[in-house]
Amino acid sequence: MIVYLNGAFLPPEEACISPLDRGFLFGDGIYEVIPSYQGRFFLLDEHVERLRRSLREIRMPDPQPEQGWESLLERLLELNPGGDRSVYLQVTRGAAPRDHAFPTRMAATVFAMVSSIAPPLADLPDRGVAAISLPDQRWGRCDIKSVALLPNVLARQQAVEQGAVEAVLLRDGMLTEGAASNVFVVHGDAVVTPPLGPEILPGITRRFLLDALRAEGWDCREEPLPESVLRSADEIWLTSSTKELLPVTALDRRPVGEGRPGRVWGHALDVFRRARDLAISNAGTRAKS
Ligand code: PDD
Repeated sequence: MIVYLNGAFLPPEEACISPLDRGFLFGDGIYEVIPSYQGRFFLLDEHVERLRRSLREIRMPDPQPEQGWESLLERLLELNPGGDRSVYLQVTRGAAPRDHAFPTRMAATVFAMVSSIAPPLADLPDRGVAAISLPDQRWGRCDIKSVALLPNVLARQQAVEQGAVEAVLLRDGMLTEGAASNVFVVHGDAVVTPPLGPEILPGITRRFLLDALRAEGWDCREEPLPESVLRSADEIWLTSSTKELLPVTALDRRPVGEGRPGRVWGHALDVFRRARDLAISNAGTRAKS
């Protein structure tokens, strides 16, 4: 495996970061997770755009010139050939004497590595996955993809310890998102997901799925979702760059709908995969021309 650190491509054991790095001391940094299929990125531009937004929101100058992120990430993927991969990219404010307030001029730390995307479980279409619900104990700017993820870590751990794959979070009686995913609910004829705002991450998969379904005439809504609607949902789905579109068939040990992956999920996954393959091949054609 070859990773990227501050301008160099090198083995992970040679990649060293200062203990004074503000990412280590304060969680003062942001990240992205970008999927690729057979050596081609999926929605790279959208991920880079969100990365730049996160940097602006935490008041960090962008350390890469125009197209710098794209070339760095493409190079890293080339150096780590294989099947379906995700690239983890982290940018922190860099190393400085410990003080909560940050110096105005700092050299960012930029780190990236490649991981395999686990293939979907073979029995997914028959069984789906379990989730638990928990109170959302995170901060008021969950729209920033910050590396400070302690509440998410604790929520996911609790889910795993209870035999579930995800914790879906509730704030003031309303669904926000999962610890590491966005959440969709099928209720009657409508597909509903909570609206964008400071309470949730603007998921790239969420946006892509909404656009793909709407392009085929589906009734998709971005509306606040009270806990009662979540609990009486016909179907619940999770979306993320590494999970694509997962059907939740049990919530807090109770069956969702009929307790099996729903019919609507099956159709939505077809629409998603078709649109995904088209987007990947269009991006490839654009890169070559
Ligand atoms: N997490 N909400 C949260 C809190 C997330 O951490 C993620 C993704 C999402 C989905 O966003 P996207 O569709 O852009 O991946 C929503 C990544 C995969 C992670 O932390 O590993």
